Amino acid sequence: MITEILNHTERGVMTVTLNRLDRKNSITAAMYGAMADAIALAQADESVRVLVFQGHETVFSAGNDIGDFLNNPPAAQDSPVFRFLRGLATFTKPLLAAVCGPAVGVGTTMLFHCDLVYAGDNAAFSMPFVNLGLCPEAASSLLVPQMLGYHRAAEALLLGEPFMAEAALEVGLVNRVVPPTEANGVARTAAQKLAAKPLAALIETKRLMKQGQQQRVLDQMAAEGEVFARLLGGPAAKEAFGAFMEKRKPDFSKI
Ligand code: COA
Repeated sequence: MITEILNHTERGVMTVTLNRLDRKNSITAAMYGAMADAIALAQADESVRVLVFQGHETVFSAGNDIGDFLNNPPAAQDSPVFRFLRGLATFTKPLLAAVCGPAVGVGTTMLFHCDLVYAGDNAAFSMPFVNLGLCPEAASSLLVPQMLGYHRAAEALLLGEPFMAEAALEVGLVNRVVPPTEANGVARTAAQKLAAKPLAALIETKRLMKQGQQQRVLDQMAAEGEVFARLLGGPAAKEAFGAFMEKRKPDFSKI
């Protein structure tokens, strides 16, 4: 297990912590691989009843590590990022997240697959795929309109503007907003409550709530993945990523 993803299991709760603060918890292919492995382990291990993702009280995740992403673009459906996303979407036990500070790109889209989300009042959610010349991933093009309604989804996905914890609470993306120092603890308390409940009843209840939607989610993820891979090689993404590396504003005027 790499040190940028920490994995700890206690009393039936596995907690996966993003631990790459110097890069704002941006996620490399190796980190996606480690998180996908943790999900698979949590799914298979009977002693794990609940899975929690958390970051730091100042930042959840800056999304894909842009440099690593350019060097290791997700090429195939079995690449680490897709394994991670499919693992989230098909995880049968309760899945929780504690989110503080920026949650960019996959830092926000992964939350649509969580059952309970607790946010610090400093949480800022954003899905700036268009601004990067890309398209949504993690089935967010399906799940965001479903949860937010079309027009608010268009604001989030076309304009790509951040929205704060209170707005996320209002649309139902988060369950509770708390001081950032308390978010991980509040998620842990909820996870421990769930871990004390009968697992089969939890699994069946989650399955029934999601029934009918899962295949659609997986199909949407696969369709997004194809478009995403094509756009990643395109001129707008090159300009956006180049601008990020050079710390300047992108110029899409000639694209
Ligand atoms: N990939 C690679 N490096 C990243 C990164 C990412 N997604 N996000 C941040 N970093 C790096 C920065 O380049 C910076 O490196 P430096 O110290 O060598 O200059 C360092 O992490 C700190 O980031 P910084 O931007 O100074 O922190 P901040 O607190 O001012 O802002 C964010 C935090 C998350 C709002 C901002 O970093 C950001 O917008 N990152 C890009 C998010 C993004 O577009 N992700 C891709 C989604 S697909």
